[in-house]
Amino acid sequence: MGRCQCSFYLSFAFLFMCSIGWISLPPVNAALKQYQFDIQVKNVSRLCHAKPIVTVNGMFPGPTVYVREGDRVQINVTNFAQYNMSIHWHGLKQYRNGWADGPAYVTQCPIQTGQSYTYDFNVTGQRGTLWWHAHIFWLRATVYGAVVIMPKQGMPYPFPQPDFEFNLILGEWWNDDVEEVVKQGKKLGLPPRMSDAHTINGKPGPLFPCPEKYTYAVEVEQGKSYLLRIINAALNDELFFAIAGHNLTVVEIDAVYTKPFSTDAILVAPGQTTNVLVHANEVSGRYFMAARPFMDAPLSIDNKTATAILQYKGIPNTALPSLPNLPAPNDTAFALGYNAKLRSLNSPQFPANVPLKVDRHLFYTIGLGIIPCPTCQNGTQLTASLNNITFIMPRIGLLQAHYFNLTGVFTTDFPDRPSTPFNYTGAPLTANLRTSQSTRPRLSKIAFNSTVELVLQDTNLLSVESHPFHLHGYNFFVVGSGVGNFDPKKDPTNYNLVDPPERNTVGVPTGGWTAIRFRTDNPGVWFLHCHLELHTSWGLKTAFVVENGPGLDQTILPPPKDLPSC
Ligand code: C2O
Repeated sequence: MGRCQCSFYLSFAFLFMCSIGWISLPPVNAALKQYQFDIQVKNVSRLCHAKPIVTVNGMFPGPTVYVREGDRVQINVTNFAQYNMSIHWHGLKQYRNGWADGPAYVTQCPIQTGQSYTYDFNVTGQRGTLWWHAHIFWLRATVYGAVVIMPKQGMPYPFPQPDFEFNLILGEWWNDDVEEVVKQGKKLGLPPRMSDAHTINGKPGPLFPCPEKYTYAVEVEQGKSYLLRIINAALNDELFFAIAGHNLTVVEIDAVYTKPFSTDAILVAPGQTTNVLVHANEVSGRYFMAARPFMDAPLSIDNKTATAILQYKGIPNTALPSLPNLPAPNDTAFALGYNAKLRSLNSPQFPANVPLKVDRHLFYTIGLGIIPCPTCQNGTQLTASLNNITFIMPRIGLLQAHYFNLTGVFTTDFPDRPSTPFNYTGAPLTANLRTSQSTRPRLSKIAFNSTVELVLQDTNLLSVESHPFHLHGYNFFVVGSGVGNFDPKKDPTNYNLVDPPERNTVGVPTGGWTAIRFRTDNPGVWFLHCHLELHTSWGLKTAFVVENGPGLDQTILPPPKDLPSC
């Protein structure tokens, strides 16, 4: 695996590593990729406002991690910021190796100021676009970047080879310090202030103040084809994305190949990634690429449009770009229709191994609520729950507690279904919104190698809303979804068990349900949560404890020596 050559390399490579952020070793050592991530505070300015933000290596967005399927990756994170830090490699399966997964207090204690931790993991059986982000408080507002997994050497894409490729990371920008904005919201017991802009590769574009410096532009050549790796790193907004005058051909989602289809616009939820092919075969000119939220719940909507520019070679910067036709912010029909078009490629080489029999049926309701809060201005605060349980964060990592059999940290009595069924998606329910607040986190224990079906059911507790749910440690198949209440008799007859989309994050439709299936072949403690940071912080999360299997290679690996302690 080339480890010795690598440490030899390290001795003289270390100096420039910090400045450029990563080293790519020559092909002979291609099996080990090493990166240095320095967490540092840097002054950054957007919308004519400067503020200090937390960054990796002073970059915003952070550096792209380039690896090849089959590589071993070591990313040493050194924390020079005043905040505790942890980094999650979103969508990387981390087989037996939750130690490298990253969510704070779930798989590790945070990396404290002045400390380092090396995330050491193998990239197995995955190729495509994923991403990384801080997984503690709201720090992922500025601490995020792309992960590009190239197919194994000599393995072509299952679609026409593009001439070029580039990343587009969609995000959000607040003029004020995000951690302060969140504190303010907590005091009131209400959502914190909305972001001031959406961004593409960290830049809001010309529809916002001070665009000269803060517009991302990419030059394309007439007749060439491009692979765009689109990542939604926004905290709280599902986003539509489109390019004026150009169709997008979707070829991959969440690092899984799809049956290609052409569309005017895509929908991408926080946590999700989408690879599209674009042909630069329109009239040479300048075209806007634009991203704007999708919101079809009766809630206030943040409809600010981020733009970037696709510019044909030879066209002057003065040419006025045109805007794409994005779906209306509340276009439910587009959203449902778009998601229904997503299918796994399901080729002999990339089969969709959908579990056909189910060992364990889970039904989780998603709810919002109000609980007493003596320290809040109104005496109450908004909260969120799964099966009416608001998740309480522990003080030490759940994975450590599980691995070392520490008692008293968590219980494994998370219910498989709600204790009191009701009409989940009827009229808004405003009475009885108290969720149950246990003193310890309640998890669900699952036997190794079980096939699990989890139905996520949105409810009208306070309000319906679309929730992008993310599962750590696995991909899952989205076998069905619908509007209204899930019907356990009728709905499964319409499941797609042949080529359903396989992903790590799925949008549960507003006032509807989504059924996912996966096989618990990865032992560990794996977080399941809404990827809207607002809802995660309100407790819309839980975790699975997946037991060890019988085989020697089916048990959790021992923790690394430098695993941070709390
Ligand atoms: Cu991308 Cu647990 O998160």
